Formats: sequence, C-alpha cells, structure tokens
Amino acid sequence: MRSNYNGEITKELLNQTVTLNGWVNRSRNLGGVIFFDLRDVSGMVQVVVKPESPLYALAETIRAEYVLEVKGKVILRESPNLNIPTGEVEIDPTEIKIINESKPLPIDRKSNDEMRLKYRYLDLRREELQKIFITKSKTVQVIRNYLDSQRFIDCETPILAKSTPEGARDYLVPSRIFKGEFYALPQSPQVMKQLLMVAGFDRYYQVAKCFRDEDLRADRQPEFTQIDIETSFLEQDELLTIMEGMFKKIWKEILNIDLPTPFPRLEWDDAMRDYGSDKPDTRFGLKLMHIEDIFKGIDSPLFLNKKVVGIKVKDENNQFTRKVIDNFSEHVKKHGGENLFFLKKANGEVSGSIVKLINEDVINALALENQDVLFMSSSENYLKVCNAMGSLRTELAEMLSLCDDNVYDFKWVINFPLFELAQDGSITSTHHPFTRPLRKHYDYLYADPLKVYSDSYDCVCHGYEVGGGSMRIYEHDIQQQIFKILNISEEQQKLKFGYLLDAMEYGCPPHGGCAFGLERLLMIIVHSNNIRDVVLFPKTTSAQDLMVDSPNEVDLAQLDELGIQVKKD
Ligand code: AMO
Repeated sequence: MRSNYNGEITKELLNQTVTLNGWVNRSRNLGGVIFFDLRDVSGMVQVVVKPESPLYALAETIRAEYVLEVKGKVILRESPNLNIPTGEVEIDPTEIKIINESKPLPIDRKSNDEMRLKYRYLDLRREELQKIFITKSKTVQVIRNYLDSQRFIDCETPILAKSTPEGARDYLVPSRIFKGEFYALPQSPQVMKQLLMVAGFDRYYQVAKCFRDEDLRADRQPEFTQIDIETSFLEQDELLTIMEGMFKKIWKEILNIDLPTPFPRLEWDDAMRDYGSDKPDTRFGLKLMHIEDIFKGIDSPLFLNKKVVGIKVKDENNQFTRKVIDNFSEHVKKHGGENLFFLKKANGEVSGSIVKLINEDVINALALENQDVLFMSSSENYLKVCNAMGSLRTELAEMLSLCDDNVYDFKWVINFPLFELAQDGSITSTHHPFTRPLRKHYDYLYADPLKVYSDSYDCVCHGYEVGGGSMRIYEHDIQQQIFKILNISEEQQKLKFGYLLDAMEYGCPPHGGCAFGLERLLMIIVHSNNIRDVVLFPKTTSAQDLMVDSPNEVDLAQLDELGIQVKKD
C-alpha cells in the first residue's frame, strides 16, 4: 500500500508524491489549519491540511490513533523542527483514506502499570518501547551471526520435557494419555545440551525459552529467554574467551562501544571477601574491610569470637541522619545481618554507636579521616556478615549515586563452591548437579564435600548475573558420587537422570557451557532496571498476564479428559 516509511521522509524526497500508511499520533487545529503526525514503526511525519483544501472536512473528523492512508507531496515546512529526522518537511495531501477508526485509547502516559499491562498492545505503540524491541531483535541477530561464525550449531530442544534441576519449581503439563503423569516445561535445556555433546555436535547454541515457577523480582520473569551454549573439548578459559568475543560484537554493533576484553576474572572467594556478593557491582570501589583483629581486646559480645566487616564512606553532606542509619540497620538485618554499628569522624571528633566501647588504639588503627563514616557488622558466620554488608554496599552506592550506567563493568566470577547448605541444613548444588568439581578438590568429594570448589563462572555486569555456566562432569562415577552427596538415591537417580547417566557410559566427551539471560542483557543495553521493559508481554509479580487474563479456570470437560480434579483451599 505504501511507497515509503513515514520516518524516512526527508528533504531528499522534496516535491515527490508519496503514499504513506500509519496511525494518527496527534491531531491539532491551529488557527484553522489541521496538523497531524502520521506514525509507523520507523517514526512519523507531519501532514498539513489547510482550510481551502477539499480534504478539510474529512480531516476534521480524524482522531488520534485512526489508521490512514495518505497520498501527497513532500514540501518544506515553514517552521522546521530539527529535533526529528523528518522535521524539515511535511506532507501536503491530495488523498486521505480512513482505513480504520479508533476509540479514544484507554491508557495514556499517566496510566498505572496494571492498565498498561492490560492494554500492553497499545502501550507497545510507544516509540521508546518499540525501540527496545527493535534493539532486542538486532541483538539476537548479532549473537546468531557471531555464534554461526564460531561453528556453533543452532538446535531446538523439547518444551514438553522432564523436570530439570535448576532449583526452581517446575511448570507442569498434564498428559491426557497417561493420566496422572506430567511433562515439565524446561527450566533450562541443561541436560539436553549435554546429550548433544555426547551426540557429537561439538558446539551447540539455542535462543531457548525457559520456565521457572519462582518468586519474581525486578530481574526475573517466569518465562524468559536464554542464549544457551554448550561446547566440547574446551577448557574454561577458552570458552570464556569465545563468549567475550560475543559481548564485544554486541557492544560494537548495537552501541558502537569497544568493550575491553578479556573481562577481569574474580575468584568467588575474593568477590565475597571484597564485595560481599557473588555478583558485585564494580563500577565503584567501596571494598569491604575485615577488621576483627582491631577489636580483639575489646570486651563486648559484639566482638567476641566474631568476624567484623566494615565499609567506609565519606559523609560530605551529613546525609547519614539517625533515620537513614536506622533504615540501613533494618536493611542489613533483612539481608541476614545480626547488627549494624558505626563510627564517624567530624571536626576531629569521633562519635558513633560504639564510641564508648573503644579506645584510642582502635581509633588509630581504623585510620578514620574527617567526614568518614565507618559502618560495621559482626557475626560468627563469615559469609552471612559479608552478604549483609555487601547489600549495604549496594544501598550506599545508590544513595551516593556512585553507579554510572555508561560504564560496563563486565567480569567473570569464577570457581564457586560446588555445594552450599540449604536452610534446612541439607547440601545442595550451588549451580546444578552436573557442575564439574575442580580437579585438585576431587579427594574432598569423598572426605569433606563442602570444601569442594567447582569449575564454574558467572558473567556479571552492573550487579546483575547476566549469565552463568560451568565445565561439566563427564565421568559416570563422579556424577554418581555427586548425586550421593546430594542425597539422591540410586533409584531416584535412575528415575530422574537415568538417560544422562547412561549417556556417560557411551563415550561422553569433556564438555562445558553457559547460558545468558537475554532479557538481563537487554536491561543493561537499554539501561532499564525492570525486566518487564524488555519482555513484549510480561507477567506481573504474581505471574499473571493481565492482557489475556491468564492463568484462568478451564472447562470441567477439559479437566475430566486429563483426569484432573481441582482441590481448592
Ligand atoms: P542459570 O540458572 O544461572 O543457569 O541461568 C542462566 C541465566 O539465565 C538468566 N535467568 C533469568 N532471567 C530472567 N528471569 C529468570 N527467572 C531467570 N532465571 C535465570 C540469568 C542467569 O544468569 N543451565 C544453566 C546454565 C549452564 O550451566 O550452562 C542455567 O540455566 O541471566
């Protein structure tokens, strides 16, 4: 129908006749002259109808969001708008056809999130949102081209699958044929991609849909997309180098930025010690201080047999009022900390919540300078106090505006502990049970599993875990030992992962891989702090789709066919 896209009408086309399609962005009548912008995916151009035009009566009936076809001549604007690409010209129409009308829209810029999600297809008409999804499309294209150039093979794995061990709850799909039996939607294609290595595919990738029934946060959706990767016969360093090449390409082609590589590699132990996080934001310093030795002689339950972790900041503007510090204290406790205390130096005087407990030696050892505030927390549990202070570190950075979105602090956090203790005291995998122990820790697998570290790596930027992965176990007996440590009986092993254990006995190559959250990547590229901005049809925090109104009840007949009876509390 159209001869050109609206956003591409410039002076180059002056005096030419064009036929355009699109939506009326805004119609206004200024001193008898009707102006409207005709919008399409490429942008918009202004159309002007003067009172003497035979189209004037028709133009008066045109409202916002009507769908039109406009034929007309490209002419120069009397008062150009140099802020938009089409701002030097406008269209003098010879024909206007109303293709479809529109009711007034139920949402505008001031509408709340709920209404926007209900009418997501209308919210998506906004230029900012369209730009995000065009960027997303281009990013996937760059990734595909890069991986293709590196000999990766694009493979699809099943969606009607079997429970995968990524640690969240599964979304289940009932089988009609086998009543009482269920498929699980994949939390990731983890096991399938490992089997593709056994099958000899060598380098696999997939833009893979994953499903996890877990508590949602600003960077989590119940369904999301992974750039999923698996390779054979590579060591950790070789794989990370290939992946850095992918990020370099994306940043160059999408943002025209030369991303420095290799990314720094930070041991998990060091990340926890210095930043109290396995996904530290390193755009700012503020390293944690480990200062229990300084308090050794002080007789107080705050210090006795405790690790003491501190973080020192400048309080130039006296921002840290009583109320702010109380909030910090609550924040630290919410993140597993036991206490928060502080010292402050102003006008040469040291004050703060523990000033009465300490002596001159302590003050000297802490080397406080004027305007310094030192926040501290203590605990017998090293990781707990690190975590809590790590989260205060992020809070402080936000308050002091230390994060520059245009600095990309990509890094790999490597060599995580293989296991961690769950809340109930049981041993669980830090990543998943197929993660390879570091070779030098093999003996601990039998003696003291919590001492084992893994050949694993997470990709971190702006404090987000953008991706993660590991080298995998390829030996049947090691895999069985891991299951044993995880307290998975032989019977359960066979039931859940029998096919993988079988495969390990038929020439399984050394292999490893990783997966990047496409949405998290996009959040960084487009500077968003909410994953909903980068998902076309996102779900709410209670995993509802307000537009199609799902989840929803289904017909009894459908349930009967599946042999399902619903139990309501
Ligand atoms: P993992 O569970 O770490 O690893 O997931 C990989 C990446 O996927 C993204 N991600 C999410 N994004 C949005 N919403 C969610 N609910 C969500 N959950 C995860 C994150 C994360 O880093 N199979 C392994 C990878 C491997 O070992 O190869 C896996 O899935 O960016």
